[in-house]
Amino acid sequence: MRFLGIESSCDETGVALVQLLPDGAARLRGAALHSQVAMHRDYGGVVPELASRDHIRRVLPLMEAALEEAGVDLRAVDAVAYTRGPGLAGALLVGAGVAAALAMALGVPALGVHHLEGHLLSPFLSADPPAFPFVALLVSGGHTQLMRVDGVGRYALLGETIDDAAGEAFDKSAKLLGLGYPGGPALSRLAQQGDPAAFALPRPLLHSGDLDFSFAGLKTAVLTQVRKLGPALAARRADLAAATEAAIVDVLVHKAAQAMRATGLQRLVVAGGVGANQRLRAQLDERARRAGWRVHYPELALCTDNGAMIALAAAMRWQAGGWPPHGDGWAFDVRP
Ligand code: KG4
Ligand code: ZN
Repeated sequence: MRFLGIESSCDETGVALVQLLPDGAARLRGAALHSQVAMHRDYGGVVPELASRDHIRRVLPLMEAALEEAGVDLRAVDAVAYTRGPGLAGALLVGAGVAAALAMALGVPALGVHHLEGHLLSPFLSADPPAFPFVALLVSGGHTQLMRVDGVGRYALLGETIDDAAGEAFDKSAKLLGLGYPGGPALSRLAQQGDPAAFALPRPLLHSGDLDFSFAGLKTAVLTQVRKLGPALAARRADLAAATEAAIVDVLVHKAAQAMRATGLQRLVVAGGVGANQRLRAQLDERARRAGWRVHYPELALCTDNGAMIALAAAMRWQAGGWPPHGDGWAFDVRP
């Protein structure tokens, strides 16, 4: 079966074709992506109305590119998946509307996918996919969660952020440091030239005993440092970036390790945009080596938003019997 996946929840339009093979394995056959980062940069963040309009312009040409790479005609598609939420309502409606229309025209099911389930399952498209059960650390721009994953659709929340998400902490700190949008990757690049021990920043909830996170206090601490430094910030920017990154990564690694101990599981899956962070990867790998567990990451290109993870999540849910044969029907909805 061939699943077309459409992602349009925020500032990336992604379309991809995933094929479910008779032996149950899922293969990515073609993918196309357009990032709106350049368009939103002047505003310092995503402008929802502009995002929706750009998704409309991009989605069909991207679909054609993905199908061309896969070497199949649109008529060979067996189901059309789309991101139902969470995300920006207007942006989601573009993907949902296009998916439902395509599905109706083709006479195939339309399948609404939870964006975070897409992130969560994305490592199954890597060369070294995980096996169930595992602990998942979901770290994106909007979410920071630890979950116990026993199978497709069998997710138990172990802990999550009580305020900002990890990606948000990266982005907001980057903004305070005067770095461009999107801030996470920029802050991380600058941090490589800095000394993470140059500033003592807080590690909120590090020893709270539970698996919850909090990053709002860290943002305030960064702001305090920026104000204190004043014009001296220019010379200390890399150090402050390194200290900020270290604080965020320390908390994520500490809590992930705590979740591994609490569940007794041996596999950790890291997904979402912040999963692309090299310091996070290096520290988790080191922890895993010492503790004897394994860490699985999605391919770097599949860490941030993309169509492949949506097609894959739909395929895996389908395989697990998670939908009626007609899918969700062609009257679509979104859940921002
Ligand atoms: O999963 P994602 O693409 O979108 C959401 O669903 O939110 O995650 C985007 C987030 C942004 O906050 C971005 O700054 C962060 O992931 N991010 C990074 C890196 N690459 C992306 N944060 C730290 N280091 C990176 N290398
Ligand atoms: Zn995402």
